[in-house]
Formats: sequence, C-alpha cells, structure tokens
Amino acid sequence: MTIEPFSLPDGFLLGVATAATQIEGGDRNNNWYRWFEDGHVKDGSDPSVACDHWNRVAEDTALLTEFGCHTYRLGVEWSRIEPEPGRYDEEAIAHYRDELQRLRDADIVPLLTIYHFSHPLWFEDMGGWMSRRSIECYLRFTEVVVRRLGNLVDDWITMNEPNIYLIFGYVMGVWPPGRKSVRRFFRGRRHMVRAHRAAYEMIHRISPELGRPEPKVGVAHHLRVFDPATDRVADRFMARFYDRMSQGIFVSAMTGSSGDGGRRWADFIGVNYYSRDIVHFVPNPAIGFGRRMSLEGAPVNDLGWERYPEGLYRVVQWLAERYPLPIYITENGTCDSRDAFRSRYIYDHLYQIHRLIEDGVDVRRYYHWTLTDNFEWSEGTTARFGLVYVDFDSQRRAPRESARFYAEICRRRAVTTGMIERYIR
Ligand code: FCB
Repeated sequence: MTIEPFSLPDGFLLGVATAATQIEGGDRNNNWYRWFEDGHVKDGSDPSVACDHWNRVAEDTALLTEFGCHTYRLGVEWSRIEPEPGRYDEEAIAHYRDELQRLRDADIVPLLTIYHFSHPLWFEDMGGWMSRRSIECYLRFTEVVVRRLGNLVDDWITMNEPNIYLIFGYVMGVWPPGRKSVRRFFRGRRHMVRAHRAAYEMIHRISPELGRPEPKVGVAHHLRVFDPATDRVADRFMARFYDRMSQGIFVSAMTGSSGDGGRRWADFIGVNYYSRDIVHFVPNPAIGFGRRMSLEGAPVNDLGWERYPEGLYRVVQWLAERYPLPIYITENGTCDSRDAFRSRYIYDHLYQIHRLIEDGVDVRRYYHWTLTDNFEWSEGTTARFGLVYVDFDSQRRAPRESARFYAEICRRRAVTTGMIERYIR
C-alpha cells in the first residue's frame, strides 16, 4: 500500500472520541455496572473504576490541549444526571458544564453524545428500549441535557451505534440485557428511531433559545464492510442481508430523505469505522444462516478485527452517493496494547480520508478512538485502544508513541516525509 505524504484541508477538524461509561468511573447505577456484577465482563474489570476520568477532567483535558486536538467527542452518563426518574442531579450537571467550559476555554470544539450504550437501572428495569415509554424517558432526559448544557454546545450526537447496542444486546445476547430475540431487535429499533427523530427536532427548537442558532445534530453509526466469502449467490445474498439489516435500515431511518428537499433528521452523518467481515452462507437456521469472520491471513488487531483501511473509503463513498450531507468520522481506532501498529493504522485511515476529500466527498472531521485506555465494554480494561497508556492501579497516564504521531498530525493537518520516516517505517 502507498505510503506518501499528504495533507488535509484547512478547516478539517481532528480530535479524539470517548464515552462516559468507559472512562469516568464512580457510577454504579447503570446497566453496565450490573452486567459486570453479573460476571459478564471477560477480564472482570469494574466499570465503576474505569480510568477515573470523573476526577481527572483537568489532567485529561490538558492531554487534549497538548496533542493539539481541534475537537473532542465526549458523552454524558444518563444515570448520573437522572439517578431516579424525574430527579436531576445538580452536581452532575455542574460537573459536565465545567468540563464543557474547559474545552471551550481551550478552543476545543465539543461534540456531545447524549446516549452511548448506558442508562440508569430504573430505565433498564422498566424494560429499557423495549418499553414503549423509553421514547418519552429518553426525550425527557435529552431535554434536560439540552436546556442545561446547550449554551455550551453546537454539535450533538443523539445516540451512539443503536445498531450495535441492539445486535449485541438482543440478537447475539453478549451485552446487557443479554437477550436473544429478533423481534425485540426490531422493536428496539423502532423506539430508537422515533426517539432520535424527536430529539433532532427538539435540539433544533431549543438551541436557538440558548443563543446557539445553528446546532448540528446526527447519529454515530457503526458501519462495517460486509464482503461475501465467495462469488456464490448464497454468500452474496447473506453479505447484502447483513449490510442492510445491521446498518442500512438504521442509517436510512435516522437520516431521512436521500434527495434534496425531503424530510431529514440529520445535519451530518457520523461514521464509526473499524473493520470488515467476510460473510459465509451456512445452511443452519440456528445461527441465522450466516457466519461472519475476519479474512483469513489478513492483518488483525489484538481483538482479531481485520485492519482494512480501504473499508473506510468504501463505507463513506456509499453514504456520499446517497446523502448530500457532511460526514464526520466519529470513531476510528484500534486495539493494540504494544502500540505496534497504531501509528500505521492512523496513517492508513487518514490517507483514505485524504483520498475521499480529493474525490470530492464532504468529510469534515476525524475523531480517533480513543484518548486513553479505558473500560472496553464486555472486553474490560485489557483491550487497549488508547493513544495514552493507563496503569489502572495508579491511574497514571503515559502517552504512547502513536500519540506523538497523532499530535503532530493535528498540529500540521498533514503527514510529512519526515513523519513517515519517524513513525511509520
Ligand atoms: C465502538 C463503540 C465504542 C468503543 C469502540 C471500540 O463500537 O462505540 O464505545 O467501544 O467500538
């Protein structure tokens, strides 16, 4: 693959993305803490510890500044803000206001995620997203977030990867609440789509009252490439089926009309891109007639996910052909505990973004996943995605070499020959 210098346009924003539950620690009132208590986190690590970001906002914000990030994607923890239905915690709200203010003071544009896989136990116990009341609960919470934090925020993600939440939680059963029910998957999707659309409209209604006349609202979609294992009709059919059911139907319903002038529920499309799956048709109804795996012999990360940068080009190109909207890469990164290939991963994926832009696609931002090692859901803290190493006993942070590479990219909006020599070769 090509390794050559390239640059990104002047207005292009680079930053990092995080999620509240994965970094904050200190909260036990959510579905992920219960999942941990029930013994489902593979390495037994405790999300109520995570990387103690709640107490280290100043230190972690200083890292963002040190790396020259132009923007930062962060989330709020619903169970902290609304620990009981209808009761809002002023301290938690003040904490998030303080964090957002620090970012603004440092000239870092915040992109705020309202919902990222995690919710209070009272919400879980009423059936979570399966309950018809989930929509009104989510909207009530969202209204508080927007009214109380909205004068500090222009850019919003209503929800992160609703497809992954529902597939892992309700089809594969490997995430909370650990059910296997395709019927529930569709029910949850219906509720999340309605909730997103109403939140989109709500944010547009409230923000101008707060002095933010042009909010930008979207969803962070998990998009993968699904390629058929062979040219056989059955494999091709299954690959298309996965593509449509696990992502196409979410993007279309949450974005709205693909033409100009139609009804729309997004101002940008957020893309979380990591990898590709090779799809085989398997004549076995018990496993849904399909199996997904990494390409044999392909380079993979510590979790066995194929490293496939062209896939980013392909999924973004696919979106750009359908929707006349700006695209933000809201997550992209890799699990690499030795930091052996992270710099190369960053180079390869940013190179694809450079190609997309050269080809006329409106990609405006890139958020690397993620700032520090953290609580990686069911994998726990042993799966290390951070630009910054964390010693979870002492909570000491130490930037990896890839962090220095990424910081230089942020500062220059470019990769130079010298940087290639220093970090890639
Ligand atoms: C994405 C999630 C994010 C993180 C990365 C590795 O699917 O949105 O929270 O876990 O994967």
